[in-house]
Amino acid sequence: MNINDQAPEPIRNLHGLPELRPFRLGKHLLQRPILLAPMVGVSDVPFREVCLQQGATLTIAEMLPADTAMWKSEKNRLRLKRSTACGPEIVQIAGFDAGMMAEAARLNADMGAEVIDINMGCPAKKVLKKAAGSALMRDPELVEQILRAVVAAVDIPVTLKMRTGWCRAQKNGVDIARIAEDCGITMISVHGRTRECRFVGDVEYDTIAAIKQSVGIPVIANGDIDSPEKAVQVLKHTGADGLMIGRAAQGRPWIFREIRQFLEFGEHATPPSASEISILMQDHIRALHAFYGDFRGTLFARKHIDWYSKALPGGDLLKSSFMTADSVESQQELLHHWHRENLSTLMSCAAHTNN
Ligand SMILES: Cc1cc2nc3c(=O)[nH]c(=O)nc-3n(C[C@H](O)[C@H](O)[C@H](O)COP(=O)(O)O)c2cc1C
Repeated sequence: MNINDQAPEPIRNLHGLPELRPFRLGKHLLQRPILLAPMVGVSDVPFREVCLQQGATLTIAEMLPADTAMWKSEKNRLRLKRSTACGPEIVQIAGFDAGMMAEAARLNADMGAEVIDINMGCPAKKVLKKAAGSALMRDPELVEQILRAVVAAVDIPVTLKMRTGWCRAQKNGVDIARIAEDCGITMISVHGRTRECRFVGDVEYDTIAAIKQSVGIPVIANGDIDSPEKAVQVLKHTGADGLMIGRAAQGRPWIFREIRQFLEFGEHATPPSASEISILMQDHIRALHAFYGDFRGTLFARKHIDWYSKALPGGDLLKSSFMTADSVESQQELLHHWHRENLSTLMSCAAHTNN
């Protein structure tokens, strides 16, 4: 990402890709943006830092409920933490009440948020006990009320994360996108499934392409992008201005670097060696421990080791012993020991990268 005022550089058109025009998000000039998707329980500060280091252009924080009374909980207190090492601070808010959403946006802007993202992309009802997130797409009038209220409340860019529609029979993504543009939303990310589909079935990119055709603001394509080849395919199909990656970055954050290299130079990046993965993983786990403390830190670490172990030779063994380590010290010692014991193998072994 360039954060300067120079004229946008022309982008080479490799792989027959559609022209990708650089665009501004507040003070940031984005060229071929590849974003880390917001993921509750995953896109916390430590993971966002790792993904930024590994080539993500922007990283979006886990959703924060608009109801400020819920911010006192330990979980939400941590979600409010800021780190400049995560890139521009993008705060995602979820809710169903225009006034509460506007107030939450304003407070976050006062606390240093650089972009407010509105969650209409995930089934937030579980958290908020009321239709919010992607469920809002069923009610375009309420969508408009919320978007207008939030845009009016802050003087930073407001973006929208949505799905292709409420259900298969009512794919109203194009209508919602037009409303969003009219309300002053500056960028839309679209997960190529309806709310009804949740995570089941194939992503369809036709509606993302239709949304891109219907609005003048930048559109980011999201859903099941898990390789450089898939990234090219999705960009070609949708004509989107950038990509958003979620689950494929779990245990494999270097996917951002891989996609970036492929889009820019038309060649595959050298995969990280197993030793490099092991070092990255140890740094990440240390950061998780420091961020969450003993109890939650060890639980979160297990989740990430489960993912990383899939990319490592002998990862199954590491995973099984790690799951029984129940303190910060024992987890760190185990990773250290594992790295030392396996170093000669690791050095000679190219990592299996799930490609
Ligand atoms: C564990 C998990 C948590 C998620 N949390 C959020 C969230 O807080 N806000 C949101 O807009 N989408 C959320 N999503 C949806 C993702 O941002 C993304 O749209 C979806 O996973 C599809 O992208 P992918 O196929 O690259 O994973 C979540 C997805 C997962 C798997």
